[in-house]
Amino acid sequence: MKAISIGLLGLGTVGSGVIKIIENHQDKLMHQVGCPIQVKKVLVQELGKERAVKIDESVLTTDVNEIINDPGIDVVIEVMGGVEKTRELLLQAIENKKHIVTANKDLMAIYGSELLRAASANGCDLFYEASVAGGIPIIRSLVDGLASDRITKLMGIVNGTTNYILTKMTQEGLAYGDVLKEAQALGYAEANPASDVEGLDAARKMVILATLGFSMKVDLDDVKTTGITKVTEEDLHYAKQLGYTMKLLGIAHRDGERVEVSVQPTLLPHSHPLASVHNEYNAVYVYGEAVGETMFYGPGAGSLPTATSIVSDLVGVVKNMRLEVNGSSAIAPQHEKNLKAPEE
Ligand code: NAP
Ligand code: HSE
Repeated sequence: MKAISIGLLGLGTVGSGVIKIIENHQDKLMHQVGCPIQVKKVLVQELGKERAVKIDESVLTTDVNEIINDPGIDVVIEVMGGVEKTRELLLQAIENKKHIVTANKDLMAIYGSELLRAASANGCDLFYEASVAGGIPIIRSLVDGLASDRITKLMGIVNGTTNYILTKMTQEGLAYGDVLKEAQALGYAEANPASDVEGLDAARKMVILATLGFSMKVDLDDVKTTGITKVTEEDLHYAKQLGYTMKLLGIAHRDGERVEVSVQPTLLPHSHPLASVHNEYNAVYVYGEAVGETMFYGPGAGSLPTATSIVSDLVGVVKNMRLEVNGSSAIAPQHEKNLKAPEE
């Protein structure tokens, strides 16, 4: 039985989690996809670095061509980050008929439509569940579970780092700078944590959710974004005394043909369900005309939760590959179609 061959771009917090899940859940994965999954090559920047997972050194490379130009690699998993260069690499991989799984919201918020169109034109899947809300299957829920409904509003906590910081500052009175360092050490923060604390990471995720939820093009430049850098320990202390909790909320709503998206620190009464979402956890409310109000909750950042979304996407890719081989094309592209952003 031929193994599915993976090229992994990046072996940091998320990449290490991907290796762990592929190794530790082999039986389950084999049952799901019906063949072994083999990580053939892993791209890193620095070969001699200590890693969170044991990995055969011969698998590591600093030459991306050994992955994207290797005809033996079926699926590229991108967990290295970056935008312009990464876009070029993934477009090249797609031209070489590789399926793509990515956790990269910076990339998908800007170039998602272009990459999805390129993937479709080349008969490839491009899945990106891990790009929003870590381990919560929110993208699948929007495009599959709620496919029949008209989504009117999305609202939630979609950045784990800032929620961790606000939680620790509020509950334990810790200093902003110290908690940010903790969030970095725990692997929640971005390589440049400014994108977390200034609200940009949440804005990118809201763009992805709004694009999918409303089936409309949403521009990152139009998102009104305020981060948590100006929130003080005193603000949080007095808010708590008055019965409020501060959260960094992303809100997107549709008004006819207009979509408004914003990210800002918001005071919520203690009794509001989002006020009980602590630490790196995320939660997203989805309002649908027919379904009403639904809430999705879970770990929004970190190695294994994020890797769970990635490896589940991989399972989806491999299932589609197998269905195509077996000629069941009427079923196979369904999932791919659902994850596709609308034409510009
Ligand atoms: P990370 O810990 O900094 O790991 C990045 C990895 O990519 C490292 O192994 C690094 O190599 C490699 N890399 C980076 N630039 C490279 C380059 N130009 N050439 C070759 N290798 C390169 O980052 P992470 O936290 O795993 O995040 C990865 C991606 O997932 C990002 O897009 C992030 O936004 C997204 N994401 C992260 C989380 C999370 O909780 N951390 C959750 C959801 C999505 P070296 O190890 O040799 O330096
Ligand atoms: N830095 C991001 C966060 C990682 O804290 O939410 C998950 O996307």
